Amino acid sequence: MSLYDNYILPTVIHTTCGSKPILKQREKVVPLAEGRVLEIGMGSGINLPYYDATKVDMIWGLEPSEGMMRKALKNLNKSPFEVQWLDLPSEEIPLDTNSADTIVLTYTLCTIPNWQQALEEMRRVLKPNGSLLFCEHGEAPDDNIRRWQQRINPVWKKLAGGCHLNRPIPSLLTESGFKIEKIEAQYLPSTPKFAGFNYWGVSKIA
Ligand SMILES: C[S@@+](CC[C@H](N)C(=O)[O-])C[C@H]1O[C@@H](n2cnc3c(N)ncnc32)[C@H](O)[C@@H]1O
Repeated sequence: MSLYDNYILPTVIHTTCGSKPILKQREKVVPLAEGRVLEIGMGSGINLPYYDATKVDMIWGLEPSEGMMRKALKNLNKSPFEVQWLDLPSEEIPLDTNSADTIVLTYTLCTIPNWQQALEEMRRVLKPNGSLLFCEHGEAPDDNIRRWQQRINPVWKKLAGGCHLNRPIPSLLTESGFKIEKIEAQYLPSTPKFAGFNYWGVSKIA
């Protein structure tokens, strides 16, 4: 792993994913988690303060980047519930079938290289009536913004740890055997439109 990926990128991600509009998005989704929770791409643990400690039993924090884990230590130490760190990518989740009540996926589906395999794994480990809570940026609804997303994507991916600007989040979920129970979408305020179209909601196994 390069110096950039290991040391600079974790700070860049922690800072950009901690902007006010994005923190507001976290408030809408993360408190819905309950039971045994699997967070995919836990990053710097920035979601931890948003969980409702009265509803959560424990969290598996899956995150393959060592740099992000270092960045997460402060939040992990303050966590009111047990967090077990899983240092593998989501394409190979080291949990038994039907083991999670909730999966939390925030600003990570954009980055997972093999999203098909990762979502298949999420479907395997989620309990039949469990919820996958998502909050992701992705493909914009306007043609001109979508064209910008396509133009910028190649450079953006290199700078932003493999993040794609224009993944069609709802279709990725439904193509992978999830049904969407609740969804909202909008451009986030104070965020460039090419990176700021957000989808958030609740999905279940179809
Ligand atoms: C933009 S960050 C978002 C972090 C965090 N989820 C948040 O809401 O701020 C994307 C995260 O996905 C992680 N990631 C990259 N490849 C992954 C994979 N294959 N499986 C799971 N996480 C991955 C990165 O290391 C990074 O922490």
